[in-house]
Order: sequence, then structure tokens, then C-alpha cells
Amino acid sequence: MRQLIAGNWKMNGLTTQASAIAGPLRAAAGDPIGLTCDLLVCPPFTQLLTVAQALAGSPIAVGGQDCHTAPHGAHTGDISAPMLRDAGATWVILGHSERRQNHAETDELVREKVVAATDAGLTQIVCVGETADQRASGQETEVVGWQLAGSLPKPFTGVVAYEPVWAIGTGKTATEQDVAIMHAFIRDELVRQFGEAGRGVRILYGGSVNPANAATLLAVPEVGGALVGGASLKPEDFLAIARAARIASEAGGG
Ligand code: PGA
Repeated sequence: MRQLIAGNWKMNGLTTQASAIAGPLRAAAGDPIGLTCDLLVCPPFTQLLTVAQALAGSPIAVGGQDCHTAPHGAHTGDISAPMLRDAGATWVILGHSERRQNHAETDELVREKVVAATDAGLTQIVCVGETADQRASGQETEVVGWQLAGSLPKPFTGVVAYEPVWAIGTGKTATEQDVAIMHAFIRDELVRQFGEAGRGVRILYGGSVNPANAATLLAVPEVGGALVGGASLKPEDFLAIARAARIASEAGGG
């Protein structure tokens, strides 16, 4: 399976910056001997249409960073899954730790959002990951196991992203061994929850992925790609990570 390199712009990107990022990505993705991974960019809501139009007809997909559980209604400030689809998105990130922390999103709410996204035809990236304190007290697999059990509906046709909270935006990455252990655990949990279908779910790693560490992280068994925050705002860095995915796949790690 091809690895997926997904860019999460978070709350970054005015119109000029969105176009400045999308342009080089589109040019690189058009190169027939170029990238052999799947590419996805998730700009803020305000730039979705611009980025979707800039990438229309290219192999690069566009996604949102969150959606409401309802398709429409009196929810001031919220955006629904059909609205994302209407703006050109085919993917959505759900349950990111920044949403879980800053907006008190529970596993149950994330699960409802996954269902809403599926209904609207959006593929989901569902994020899980432990905090530094949870890891320090040896609870990392327990926490991730609970998040998986609570956040994923049956059936589940999306992607899971393992993002240790302490590695997000900190420059600290999990070690290869940490990633290998957690991704193997997540795979086992997915198979336990979903049977054979659980074997086909891509599991991304996220947390301070950059051009220097991407090849190593993407070569770890059961790593099906990367969810990239900060480095996705620099097209040259994002593309360097995407090229590392190809190398990792060719090495048999994908
Ligand atoms: P980061 O963010 O790459 O800036 O650490 C990753 C994420 O939060 O998805």
C-alpha cells in the first residue's frame, strides 16, 4: 500500500500563503517520475476552496481539520462534513489532540464525527496519542487502546494517526522503537476490533516529522505514512518528506 503523507496546516495560511504552498506541490505531483506516495493537504476552512481549486485535477487530495456531527443547523461557528465536501475536500482530520485538549472533545464525540464524515463521503484521519504524563506513568498503550475503542465506529474505513501529544510541535519525535511498539499495538487493536478489515487500515505517525527524520520514521514497520504539521507549511520540506516515503516504501517499510 502506498504511504500517505498528510499536511495539517492547523490555524495557519492566509490566501497568499495557501497559493504559495499549493503551487509547488501541484508542480511536483505532476512529475511522472516524482512521488509514489499519496499526498493530502488540510488547510484551514477559509482556504479550503482556494487550495481545492489550485489542486483540482492533480493527484493531491484536500481535507478539513474538523467537522460537526450534524449536516447543517444552528451551530454558530461550526462547519459540517457536507460543507467540507462542497468546498472540495475528500478527507477530514478528526480527534486531533489539539481539539481533544482545547475543545474538550471526547472519544464519543469523535466517533460521532467519524460517522458524519463517512455519511458525507469524507475519508477520516482519526488521531490518537498519549500525553507526556501518561507515558511517564507507563499508560501509553492503555490510553491509546481506549481512544481507539471509543473513537472508531464499526465499520471503520478511515486512517488512524498515532500522534504522541508530547511530540507535536515540540521538535521531539518518538524513537523508532517507541513508534514500532505503538504501531504494532494499534494494528493488533484494529484487528481485534475489526477483524481482517483492521489489517488494511493505514496507521500514520505524527509529531515533529521533518525532512531529516522522515525516512527513518517512515521505514518503521506498520507506519503507513505521516501526519505533518509545521513542516507542511514549507512546500520544499513537505515534498522532501514525501520523497522519503517513496524510499521507505521501496525499502519495504510501507
Ligand atoms: P507537528 O504537528 O508536525 O508540527 O509536530 C503534527 C500534528 O499535530 O499533526
